[in-house]
Amino acid sequence: MEVCTTPADLSTWSDRHRVAGRRVGLVPTMGALHDGHMALVADARRHADVVIVTIFVNPLQFNRPDDFANYPRPIDDDLEICRAHGVDAVYAPVAATMYPDGFQTHVEPGSLADVLEGAQRPGHFRGVTTVVTKLFNAARPHVAVFGQKDFQQLAVIRRMAADLDMGIDIVGMPTVREPDGLAMSSRNRRLSPEQRAAAVCVPASLRAVRDAVAAGVRDAEAVVAVGRAVVDAEPLARFEHLELVDGDTLQPVTVVDERSVAVTAVWFGDVRLIDNALLG
Ligand code: PAF
Repeated sequence: MEVCTTPADLSTWSDRHRVAGRRVGLVPTMGALHDGHMALVADARRHADVVIVTIFVNPLQFNRPDDFANYPRPIDDDLEICRAHGVDAVYAPVAATMYPDGFQTHVEPGSLADVLEGAQRPGHFRGVTTVVTKLFNAARPHVAVFGQKDFQQLAVIRRMAADLDMGIDIVGMPTVREPDGLAMSSRNRRLSPEQRAAAVCVPASLRAVRDAVAAGVRDAEAVVAVGRAVVDAEPLARFEHLELVDGDTLQPVTVVDERSVAVTAVWFGDVRLIDNALLG
């Protein structure tokens, strides 16, 4: 497995494979790799001949310094996991390589980035679109795979790739879950055992939402109330939001239809977990 730390090295590696006629797949991550990431790698392998994993905790997309400082960075374990899963190349640059002195150019997303996570975390998606563009430019992939757990991120990146004629297939993969339903996330490892047990209220809340819709409830406020009650009943959980939005525009809906998506964020201490459910 090749480990690259500069964009030039990664581009040289990627170009070698492109020239040989191989499709290059990319899985961008911030490390602390888990089975959810490896499902993305397996999917990238289905779409490409060689797979690059990027590992970079991107300071531009964090709006809370404590969240950035506490984000797990087990790089040796991550490299081992990549090796064990047959990843062909890892790109693990340091921040000074990505954002050297004088760096001042950003990719500005449009209105898809203003709502939901974007409203709660100002500047977050501008940080994501900027770093993903840099990763795309260094890796020159044919295809890039992202998890649907970050539903809005996937929508923003799809829009960016289309708007800027990037010529990269953006593939979204269903969320991978723990046996008790909690969506796999690098942030889960920051939960105490008690918070981890309490966090099942997040998928339980989305299940309650889906059940309500399956039972015929269509009024968005009524559906949200059902889901919120599940989180409010858990003493270690602090509800942030549960919204029903249109899956394409991400605008709030008042009546649930087959394009609606439930998106939620819930806090456990200083750890914020997000999740979503397609209601179609
Ligand atoms: O989803 C993530 O892990 C990050 O937002 C990404 C896409 C790697 C950009 O830093």
